[in-house]
Amino acid sequence: MDSLSLFCTAGLLFGGLYWFVCVLGAAEQKGKRAVDLSGGSIAAEKIQDKYRQYWSFFRRPKEIEKADKVPDFVDTFYNLVTDIYEWGWGQSFHFSPAVPGKSHREATRLHEEMAVDLINVGPGKKILDVGCGVGGPMRAIASHSRANVVGITINEYQVNRAKMHNKKAGLDGLCEVVCGNFLEMPFSDNSFDGAYSIEATCHAPRLEEVYSEIFRVLKPGALYVSYEWVTTDKYDGENAEHREIIQGIERGDALPGLRGYKDIAETARKVGFEVVNEKDLAAPPAQPWWSRLKMGRIAYWRNHIVVSILATIGIAPKGTVDVHEMLFKTADYLTRGVKL
Ligand SMILES: C[S@@+](CC[C@H](N)C(=O)[O-])C[C@H]1O[C@@H](n2cnc3c(N)ncnc32)[C@H](O)[C@@H]1O
Repeated sequence: MDSLSLFCTAGLLFGGLYWFVCVLGAAEQKGKRAVDLSGGSIAAEKIQDKYRQYWSFFRRPKEIEKADKVPDFVDTFYNLVTDIYEWGWGQSFHFSPAVPGKSHREATRLHEEMAVDLINVGPGKKILDVGCGVGGPMRAIASHSRANVVGITINEYQVNRAKMHNKKAGLDGLCEVVCGNFLEMPFSDNSFDGAYSIEATCHAPRLEEVYSEIFRVLKPGALYVSYEWVTTDKYDGENAEHREIIQGIERGDALPGLRGYKDIAETARKVGFEVVNEKDLAAPPAQPWWSRLKMGRIAYWRNHIVVSILATIGIAPKGTVDVHEMLFKTADYLTRGVKL
Protein backbone atom coordinates (compact mmCIF):
# COMPACT_ATOMS: atom_id res chain seq x y z
CA MET A 1 0.00 0.00 0.00
CA ASP A 2 1.50 3.36 -0.96
CA SER A 3 1.56 6.16 1.58
CA LEU A 4 -1.41 8.01 0.04
CA SER A 5 -3.74 5.00 0.35
CA LEU A 6 -2.37 4.30 3.83
CA PHE A 7 -3.15 7.91 4.79
CA CYS A 8 -6.66 7.69 3.29
CA THR A 9 -7.40 4.36 5.01
CA ALA A 10 -6.21 5.73 8.36
CA GLY A 11 -8.30 8.87 7.81
CA LEU A 12 -11.37 6.81 6.97
CA LEU A 13 -10.88 4.58 10.02
CA PHE A 14 -10.36 7.55 12.32
CA GLY A 15 -13.31 9.45 10.82
CA GLY A 16 -15.50 6.37 11.05
CA LEU A 17 -14.59 5.81 14.69
CA TYR A 18 -15.22 9.49 15.50
CA TRP A 19 -18.62 9.34 13.76
CA PHE A 20 -19.52 6.13 15.62
CA VAL A 21 -18.52 7.40 19.04
CA CYS A 22 -19.15 11.12 19.01
CA VAL A 23 -21.86 11.62 16.42
CA LEU A 24 -24.00 8.51 16.00
CA GLY A 25 -23.23 7.25 19.46
CA ALA A 26 -24.26 10.43 21.19
CA ALA A 27 -27.41 10.62 23.30
CA GLU A 28 -30.51 12.10 21.67
CA GLN A 29 -30.05 15.35 23.52
CA LYS A 30 -26.26 15.07 23.57
CA GLY A 31 -26.36 14.33 27.30
CA LYS A 32 -23.52 11.81 27.16
CA ARG A 33 -21.05 10.56 24.63
CA ALA A 34 -19.72 7.02 24.46
CA VAL A 35 -16.23 8.22 25.36
CA ASP A 36 -17.58 9.63 28.65
CA LEU A 37 -19.31 6.47 29.92
CA SER A 38 -18.67 5.90 33.62
CA GLY A 39 -20.04 3.85 36.50
CA GLY A 40 -21.67 6.86 38.11
CA SER A 41 -20.32 7.32 41.63
CA ILE A 42 -18.44 4.00 41.43
CA ALA A 43 -14.70 4.24 40.76
CA ALA A 44 -13.78 2.85 37.34
CA GLU A 45 -11.76 -0.05 38.79
CA LYS A 46 -14.68 -1.16 40.99
CA ILE A 47 -17.36 -1.38 38.30
CA GLN A 48 -16.84 -5.05 37.51
CA ASP A 49 -17.05 -5.94 41.24
CA LYS A 50 -20.16 -3.83 41.75
CA TYR A 51 -21.78 -5.46 38.75
CA ARG A 52 -21.13 -8.88 40.32
CA GLN A 53 -22.43 -7.59 43.65
CA TYR A 54 -25.60 -6.39 41.92
CA TRP A 55 -26.23 -9.91 40.62
CA SER A 56 -25.46 -11.43 44.00
CA PHE A 57 -28.58 -9.70 45.37
CA PHE A 58 -30.65 -12.09 43.26
CA ARG A 59 -28.94 -15.12 44.73
CA ARG A 60 -30.38 -14.04 48.07
CA PRO A 61 -33.95 -13.06 47.19
CA LYS A 62 -34.75 -12.66 50.87
CA GLU A 63 -32.28 -9.76 50.97
CA ILE A 64 -34.22 -7.95 48.28
CA GLU A 65 -37.43 -8.42 50.20
CA LYS A 66 -35.96 -6.55 53.15
CA ALA A 67 -36.94 -2.96 52.59
CA ASP A 68 -33.72 -1.57 54.04
CA LYS A 69 -31.53 -3.42 51.49
CA VAL A 70 -33.46 -2.35 48.40
CA PRO A 71 -32.40 1.31 48.14
CA ASP A 72 -28.77 0.17 48.20
CA PHE A 73 -29.30 -2.33 45.44
CA VAL A 74 -31.25 0.22 43.37
CA ASP A 75 -28.52 2.81 43.95
CA THR A 76 -25.86 0.37 42.69
CA PHE A 77 -27.97 -0.35 39.62
CA TYR A 78 -28.35 3.35 38.76
CA ASN A 79 -24.64 3.97 39.22
CA LEU A 80 -24.04 1.24 36.66
CA VAL A 81 -26.67 2.25 34.09
CA THR A 82 -27.22 6.01 34.28
CA ASP A 83 -24.58 6.98 31.72
CA ILE A 84 -25.58 4.20 29.36
CA TYR A 85 -29.25 5.24 29.59
CA GLU A 86 -28.38 8.86 28.88
CA TRP A 87 -26.16 7.92 25.99
CA GLY A 88 -28.39 5.33 24.39
CA TRP A 89 -31.89 6.49 25.38
CA GLY A 90 -31.88 10.15 26.44
CA GLN A 91 -32.52 12.13 29.59
CA SER A 92 -35.99 10.68 30.29
CA PHE A 93 -35.66 7.15 31.64
CA HIS A 94 -39.10 5.85 30.76
CA PHE A 95 -41.31 4.51 27.98
CA SER A 96 -44.33 6.25 26.51
CA PRO A 97 -46.93 5.34 23.91
CA ALA A 98 -45.79 6.14 20.36
CA VAL A 99 -47.64 9.07 18.76
CA PRO A 100 -48.23 8.86 14.98
CA GLY A 101 -46.25 11.51 13.14
CA LYS A 102 -44.18 12.41 16.21
CA SER A 103 -40.60 11.45 17.01
CA HIS A 104 -39.80 9.47 20.16
CA ARG A 105 -38.52 12.63 21.72
CA GLU A 106 -41.76 14.50 21.06
CA ALA A 107 -43.88 11.53 22.23
CA THR A 108 -41.84 11.44 25.44
CA ARG A 109 -42.43 15.14 26.07
CA LEU A 110 -46.19 14.81 25.41
CA HIS A 111 -46.35 11.92 27.88
CA GLU A 112 -44.61 14.01 30.54
CA GLU A 113 -46.81 17.06 29.92
CA MET A 114 -49.88 14.85 30.21
CA ALA A 115 -48.73 13.83 33.70
CA VAL A 116 -48.57 17.41 34.94
CA ASP A 117 -51.82 18.37 33.20
CA LEU A 118 -53.52 15.60 35.18
CA ILE A 119 -52.45 17.04 38.52
CA ASN A 120 -53.73 20.46 37.66
CA VAL A 121 -50.95 22.75 38.87
CA GLY A 122 -49.57 25.99 37.51
CA PRO A 123 -47.03 28.74 38.15
CA GLY A 124 -46.03 29.23 41.77
CA LYS A 125 -47.14 25.75 42.87
CA LYS A 126 -44.65 23.28 44.35
CA ILE A 127 -44.75 19.73 43.05
CA LEU A 128 -42.78 16.56 43.78
CA ASP A 129 -41.11 14.26 41.24
CA VAL A 130 -40.80 10.90 43.00
CA GLY A 131 -37.75 9.09 41.57
CA CYS A 132 -36.59 11.82 39.19
CA GLY A 133 -33.62 10.20 37.39
CA VAL A 134 -31.48 12.80 35.65
CA GLY A 135 -34.53 15.05 35.34
CA GLY A 136 -35.72 14.74 31.73
CA PRO A 137 -39.40 14.71 32.85
CA MET A 138 -38.77 17.38 35.48
CA ARG A 139 -37.48 19.85 32.89
CA ALA A 140 -40.33 19.18 30.44
CA ILE A 141 -42.88 19.52 33.25
CA ALA A 142 -41.37 22.71 34.72
CA SER A 143 -41.22 24.34 31.26
CA HIS A 144 -44.79 23.33 30.46
CA SER A 145 -46.44 24.20 33.80
CA ARG A 146 -44.03 26.81 35.23
CA ALA A 147 -44.55 25.05 38.58
CA ASN A 148 -41.60 24.59 40.96
CA VAL A 149 -40.50 20.97 40.78
CA VAL A 150 -38.57 19.17 43.53
CA GLY A 151 -37.14 15.84 42.41
CA ILE A 152 -35.89 13.09 44.67
CA THR A 153 -33.62 10.19 43.66
CA ILE A 154 -31.66 7.67 45.68
CA ASN A 155 -28.67 8.04 43.38
CA GLU A 156 -26.24 10.86 44.05
CA TYR A 157 -24.69 10.68 40.60
CA GLN A 158 -28.14 11.34 39.09
CA VAL A 159 -28.56 14.34 41.40
CA ASN A 160 -25.37 15.87 39.98
CA ARG A 161 -26.35 15.08 36.39
CA ALA A 162 -29.85 16.51 36.91
CA LYS A 163 -28.50 19.72 38.46
CA MET A 164 -26.07 20.14 35.60
CA HIS A 165 -28.82 19.64 32.97
CA ASN A 166 -31.20 21.98 34.84
CA LYS A 167 -28.62 24.72 34.84
CA LYS A 168 -27.79 24.18 31.19
CA ALA A 169 -31.49 24.38 30.30
CA GLY A 170 -31.89 27.59 32.34
CA LEU A 171 -34.39 25.81 34.60
CA ASP A 172 -32.41 25.69 37.85
CA GLY A 173 -34.67 28.45 39.21
CA LEU A 174 -37.71 26.17 38.88
CA CYS A 175 -36.13 22.74 39.46
CA GLU A 176 -34.53 21.46 42.65
CA VAL A 177 -33.01 18.00 43.10
CA VAL A 178 -32.56 16.16 46.39
CA CYS A 179 -30.68 12.94 47.10
CA GLY A 180 -32.82 10.73 49.33
CA ASN A 181 -34.92 7.65 49.79
CA PHE A 182 -38.54 7.98 48.73
CA LEU A 183 -39.48 5.46 51.42
CA GLU A 184 -38.46 8.03 54.06
CA MET A 185 -38.63 11.41 52.38
CA PRO A 186 -36.83 14.39 53.92
CA PHE A 187 -39.89 16.64 53.45
CA SER A 188 -42.45 17.95 55.94
CA ASP A 189 -46.07 16.83 56.02
CA ASN A 190 -48.50 18.73 53.77
CA SER A 191 -45.75 20.53 51.87
CA PHE A 192 -46.53 19.87 48.16
CA ASP A 193 -49.35 21.04 45.87
CA GLY A 194 -49.06 17.96 43.68
CA ALA A 195 -46.84 14.96 42.90
CA TYR A 196 -46.04 12.58 40.09
CA SER A 197 -43.90 9.49 39.57
CA ILE A 198 -42.89 8.06 36.24
CA GLU A 199 -41.70 4.44 36.24
CA ALA A 200 -40.05 4.85 39.63
CA THR A 201 -42.26 3.47 42.41
CA CYS A 202 -41.85 0.00 40.88
CA HIS A 203 -38.49 0.03 42.72
CA ALA A 204 -40.20 0.13 46.11
CA PRO A 205 -40.21 -3.23 47.88
CA ARG A 206 -43.70 -2.50 49.18
CA LEU A 207 -45.83 -0.04 47.24
CA GLU A 208 -47.76 1.08 50.32
CA GLU A 209 -44.54 2.44 51.84
CA VAL A 210 -43.83 4.87 49.04
CA TYR A 211 -47.50 5.74 48.47
CA SER A 212 -48.01 6.56 52.14
CA GLU A 213 -44.93 8.80 52.09
CA ILE A 214 -46.33 10.64 49.07
CA PHE A 215 -49.71 10.94 50.79
CA ARG A 216 -48.00 12.37 53.89
CA VAL A 217 -46.11 15.14 52.06
CA LEU A 218 -49.06 16.23 49.89
CA LYS A 219 -51.40 18.99 51.03
CA PRO A 220 -54.96 17.80 51.60
CA GLY A 221 -56.83 17.67 48.28
CA ALA A 222 -53.62 17.74 46.19
CA LEU A 223 -53.38 15.33 43.26
CA TYR A 224 -50.82 12.60 42.57
CA VAL A 225 -50.35 10.78 39.25
CA SER A 226 -48.21 7.69 38.74
CA TYR A 227 -47.19 5.74 35.65
CA GLU A 228 -46.59 2.22 36.96
CA TRP A 229 -44.93 -0.91 35.62
CA VAL A 230 -47.30 -3.84 36.25
CA THR A 231 -48.12 -7.32 35.10
CA THR A 232 -51.44 -7.52 33.24
CA ASP A 233 -54.25 -10.01 33.80
CA LYS A 234 -52.64 -12.20 31.12
CA TYR A 235 -49.77 -12.99 33.45
CA ASP A 236 -49.94 -16.54 34.74
CA GLY A 237 -47.61 -17.28 37.62
CA GLU A 238 -47.93 -21.03 36.91
CA ASN A 239 -46.56 -20.59 33.38
CA ALA A 240 -42.77 -21.16 33.30
CA GLU A 241 -42.21 -18.88 30.30
CA HIS A 242 -44.20 -16.05 31.90
CA ARG A 243 -42.22 -16.43 35.11
CA GLU A 244 -38.90 -16.42 33.23
CA ILE A 245 -39.81 -13.22 31.38
CA ILE A 246 -40.98 -11.35 34.47
CA GLN A 247 -37.91 -12.47 36.40
CA GLY A 248 -35.69 -11.33 33.51
CA ILE A 249 -37.34 -7.89 33.58
CA GLU A 250 -37.00 -7.62 37.35
CA ARG A 251 -33.32 -8.61 37.34
CA GLY A 252 -32.35 -6.32 34.50
CA ASP A 253 -34.19 -3.33 35.98
CA ALA A 254 -33.50 -3.59 39.73
CA LEU A 255 -37.11 -4.37 40.57
CA PRO A 256 -37.78 -6.11 43.87
CA GLY A 257 -40.95 -7.71 42.42
CA LEU A 258 -43.44 -6.57 39.78
CA ARG A 259 -47.00 -6.07 40.98
CA GLY A 260 -50.27 -6.91 39.27
CA TYR A 261 -52.21 -3.97 37.82
CA LYS A 262 -55.09 -4.58 40.22
CA ASP A 263 -52.85 -3.93 43.23
CA ILE A 264 -52.15 -0.31 42.31
CA ALA A 265 -55.45 1.50 42.95
CA GLU A 266 -56.12 -0.80 45.87
CA THR A 267 -52.83 0.17 47.53
CA ALA A 268 -53.45 3.86 46.87
CA ARG A 269 -56.83 3.61 48.62
CA LYS A 270 -55.30 1.67 51.48
CA VAL A 271 -52.92 4.52 52.37
CA GLY A 272 -55.65 7.19 52.18
CA PHE A 273 -55.88 8.35 48.56
CA GLU A 274 -59.16 8.68 46.76
CA VAL A 275 -58.66 7.18 43.29
CA VAL A 276 -59.96 9.69 40.76
CA ASN A 277 -58.90 7.95 37.56
CA GLU A 278 -57.16 4.76 36.49
CA LYS A 279 -56.12 4.05 32.91
CA ASP A 280 -54.20 1.42 30.95
CA LEU A 281 -51.91 3.47 28.72
CA ALA A 282 -50.82 0.36 26.81
CA ALA A 283 -54.33 -0.62 25.72
CA PRO A 284 -55.49 0.18 22.17
CA PRO A 285 -56.10 2.69 20.62
CA ALA A 286 -52.82 3.72 22.27
CA GLN A 287 -49.88 3.11 19.99
CA PRO A 288 -47.26 0.67 21.31
CA TRP A 289 -44.87 1.87 23.98
CA TRP A 290 -42.42 -0.84 22.92
CA SER A 291 -41.87 0.24 19.30
CA ARG A 292 -38.71 2.02 20.31
CA LEU A 293 -37.29 -1.16 21.82
CA LYS A 294 -37.97 -3.11 18.64
CA MET A 295 -36.40 -0.48 16.45
CA GLY A 296 -33.51 -0.20 18.86
CA ARG A 297 -31.96 -3.58 18.04
CA ILE A 298 -29.67 -2.20 15.32
CA ALA A 299 -28.71 0.73 17.53
CA TYR A 300 -27.93 -1.74 20.30
CA TRP A 301 -25.52 -3.74 18.16
CA ARG A 302 -23.84 -0.54 16.94
CA ASN A 303 -23.53 0.69 20.53
CA HIS A 304 -22.31 -2.69 21.73
CA ILE A 305 -19.46 -2.59 19.20
CA VAL A 306 -18.61 0.94 20.33
CA VAL A 307 -18.63 -0.02 24.03
CA SER A 308 -16.56 -3.17 23.38
CA ILE A 309 -13.93 -1.22 21.41
CA LEU A 310 -13.77 1.53 24.05
CA ALA A 311 -13.45 -1.00 26.89
CA THR A 312 -10.73 -2.92 25.01
CA ILE A 313 -8.63 0.20 24.45
CA GLY A 314 -9.19 1.31 28.07
CA ILE A 315 -11.42 4.35 27.48
CA ALA A 316 -14.61 2.80 28.91
CA PRO A 317 -14.19 1.12 32.31
CA LYS A 318 -14.06 -2.67 32.52
CA GLY A 319 -17.53 -4.00 33.23
CA THR A 320 -19.30 -1.49 30.96
CA VAL A 321 -19.69 -4.20 28.32
CA ASP A 322 -21.41 -6.52 30.86
CA VAL A 323 -23.80 -3.77 31.95
CA HIS A 324 -24.61 -2.92 28.34
CA GLU A 325 -25.28 -6.58 27.57
CA MET A 326 -27.51 -6.90 30.64
CA LEU A 327 -29.63 -4.00 29.38
CA PHE A 328 -29.98 -5.56 25.95
CA LYS A 329 -31.11 -8.87 27.44
CA THR A 330 -33.66 -6.98 29.52
CA ALA A 331 -34.98 -5.23 26.40
CA ASP A 332 -35.40 -8.68 24.92
CA TYR A 333 -37.41 -9.87 27.94
CA LEU A 334 -39.59 -6.77 27.65
CA THR A 335 -40.33 -7.41 23.96
CA ARG A 336 -41.04 -11.10 24.66
CA GLY A 337 -43.41 -10.00 27.43
CA VAL A 338 -45.20 -7.67 25.02
CA LYS A 339 -45.76 -10.51 22.50
CA LEU A 340 -47.41 -12.60 25.21
C1 LIG B 1 -36.55 4.29 35.70
S1 LIG B 1 -35.93 5.65 36.61
C2 LIG B 1 -37.14 6.88 36.16
C3 LIG B 1 -36.58 8.25 36.38
C4 LIG B 1 -37.50 9.39 35.93
N1 LIG B 1 -38.80 9.30 36.54
C5 LIG B 1 -37.63 9.41 34.43
O1 LIG B 1 -38.69 8.99 33.93
O2 LIG B 1 -36.68 9.84 33.76
C6 LIG B 1 -36.34 5.30 38.30
C7 LIG B 1 -35.88 6.35 39.29
O3 LIG B 1 -36.36 6.01 40.61
C8 LIG B 1 -35.33 6.30 41.55
N2 LIG B 1 -35.52 5.49 42.77
C9 LIG B 1 -35.67 4.16 42.87
N3 LIG B 1 -35.78 3.79 44.16
C10 LIG B 1 -35.70 4.92 44.89
C11 LIG B 1 -35.77 5.22 46.29
N4 LIG B 1 -35.93 4.26 47.20
N5 LIG B 1 -35.70 6.49 46.67
C12 LIG B 1 -35.53 7.50 45.76
N6 LIG B 1 -35.45 7.28 44.44
C13 LIG B 1 -35.54 6.02 44.01
C14 LIG B 1 -34.07 5.94 40.82
O4 LIG B 1 -32.95 6.50 41.44
C15 LIG B 1 -34.38 6.51 39.44
O5 LIG B 1 -34.06 7.85 39.43
